Parts: sequence; C-alpha cells; structure tokens
Amino acid sequence: MGKLDGRVALITGGARGQGRSHALAFAREGADIVMCDLVEGIDTIPCKMPDADDLADSVKQVEALDRRALGIKADVRDSLQLAGVVEQALATFGHIDILIANAGVVTPVPFVDISDEDWSVMLDINLGGVFKAIRAVAPHMIERGYGRIVATSSMVGRSPVGMLAHYVAAKWGVIGLVKSAAQELAPHGITVNAICPTNVNTDMIHANPAMYKVFAPDIENPTWEDVIPAFTSMNAIPVPLVDPSDISEGMLYYVSEGARYVTGETLSIAAGWNARNTA
Ligand SMILES: NC(=O)c1ccc[n+]([C@@H]2O[C@H](COP(=O)([O-])OP(=O)(O)OC[C@H]3O[C@@H](n4cnc5c(N)ncnc54)[C@H](O)[C@@H]3O)[C@@H](O)[C@H]2O)c1
Repeated sequence: MGKLDGRVALITGGARGQGRSHALAFAREGADIVMCDLVEGIDTIPCKMPDADDLADSVKQVEALDRRALGIKADVRDSLQLAGVVEQALATFGHIDILIANAGVVTPVPFVDISDEDWSVMLDINLGGVFKAIRAVAPHMIERGYGRIVATSSMVGRSPVGMLAHYVAAKWGVIGLVKSAAQELAPHGITVNAICPTNVNTDMIHANPAMYKVFAPDIENPTWEDVIPAFTSMNAIPVPLVDPSDISEGMLYYVSEGARYVTGETLSIAAGWNARNTA
C-alpha cells in the first residue's frame, strides 16, 4: 500500500527536473498525476527548455509505474490556461488533493542590467505562477475541505546572492505568499508550505551557459569541472549539487498525513547552506 493511494497531485513544471522527480515519487506512493508545463523557450532565459516530447516522457514514466497521468501544455502566467488544467484534471480524476507549484526559471543578470522584461518574466513565472496555481486549485480544495500545497522557493529565497536580484525577490516572495495562504486556507483543511533547495542537479544549472559563467567569470567557456569548487563552497556538506530526489523526499513529507499540522513552514534541503543563516 502506498502512502498516497487514491490521491491526485497537480505538478507545475513537470516536463523534466524536479517536477518530473516529484511526479515519479508521488506515483510510486500510489498517486495519479497531472503535470503542466510551458514546453517552449523564453526570450530572456538563455536556457534550453523542455519540449512536448519531454512532457510526454514524464507521462510515460508515471504510467510505467501503473499510475494514471495527464500532461498538459500550460503557462503558469496564464490564469485561463491554469483554469483549463484544473478543469481537465477534475474531468479526468474527479478531485485534486495535492498541488506542487514547482515551475520556475532563472538566469543571472547584473543588478543594473536587469531590464523591465527580465524583471517581469522572473516575477511573473516564479512568484505570479505560484500565486495563480494556488488560486486555481484553492476553491476546489476548500469545497472538499482538504488540500496539500507545496511551493518551490530556493535557498536564495532565504539568503541573497549577487546577479540574481529578480530571482531572489521572486523566491523571497514565494515564502511570504505561502505563509499568507497557509493562514487563510488552514480552516479549510489545507496546508501550504515551501521548500528551499540548494543547487540541484537539473537542466536549470546545466543547460544555461550563463549559470557556469557566473561562477567562473574569467574562463571563456567554463565546464562543469571548472565550477565544481565554487558550487561546493556554497554548501556546508561538501557536495556541489543535490539530486532532484532529495527535494522529492521533502515534498513527500509535506503531503503526508504525518505533516497534517505543519503549515506555513519553510524547509531547507540545502546541504547545510542554511546553517550559515540566522535562525
Ligand atoms: N536547479 C536548482 O539549482 C534549483 C535550486 C533552487 C530552486 N530551484 C527551483 O526549483 C524549481 C524546479 O526547477 P528545476 O531545477 O527542476 O529546473 P528545470 O529547468 O529542469 O525545470 C523547470 C520546469 O519549469 C517549467 N516552466 C518554466 N516556466 C514555466 C511556465 N511559465 N509555465 C509552466 N512551466 C514552466 C520548465 O519548462 C521546466 O520543465 C524551480 O522553481 C526552480 O526555480 C531550482
């Protein structure tokens, strides 16, 4: 028997990376899965983005675990598209128990060079997308008197770093949003929490040349080997990255019955980066 038998989870940004890992972790515990993803490039983000085949692969991998899955192209910036995702999920599965607001983008830009468009894209996806996803599922969860919502913030949502002011602002915002939603939704049996990962081994780090460059500005085309020491130095436990599955473990805790009285909380899964923060 799985810990999530009979549950249905909606995961934003499920075409790859952490979103796919959460989908598979939940499916292994018995949940059916709805994933939405933009599956297209974004002008201001020089990262190779996933395509429709990647989203279809996520669906196939969930189905290979004998769970049902839906993969829907949708942009978390678009309330109408999110309403469509919720509608399709309810038409297929009848209910949504879990929302993982995971979709996000990042790219480093010096503070004074952040354009209005850079700012809007970063805030609209990483903060606005979390708000809109929660708002899209909350009425249904309120009606049922049950819900588990987890948003992905970041360690830089708790401790700032340079070159990422727009991303940092969005990720700090996610924690405030989660705490606020937690208070309002608590009387309806809904918990709302955040996870703050350190750097995670996904394409967000590896498929955007600007991410290595920020740690090795003097090298023309830095390789992963060039930047391992800099990445490692951010964590107290000396690893450069954690795995998506490490973040999924935290997600599984937050959506479990054992966490029924945990809400408005922020969990760092950060190889001890957080040990440097104030309490
Ligand atoms: N990788 C890291 O080091 C790291 C660290 C801390 C926090 N995070 C956060 O973790 C989350 C997952 O990132 P990841 O590491 O899996 O990266 P990733 O790039 O592999 O996955 C992000 C997913 O979000 C999707 N997405 C982006 N914009 C979208 C939009 N407008 N609408 C719908 N989907 C959209 C992408 O297509 C992609 O599938 C993000 O919120 C990210 O900011 C990542």
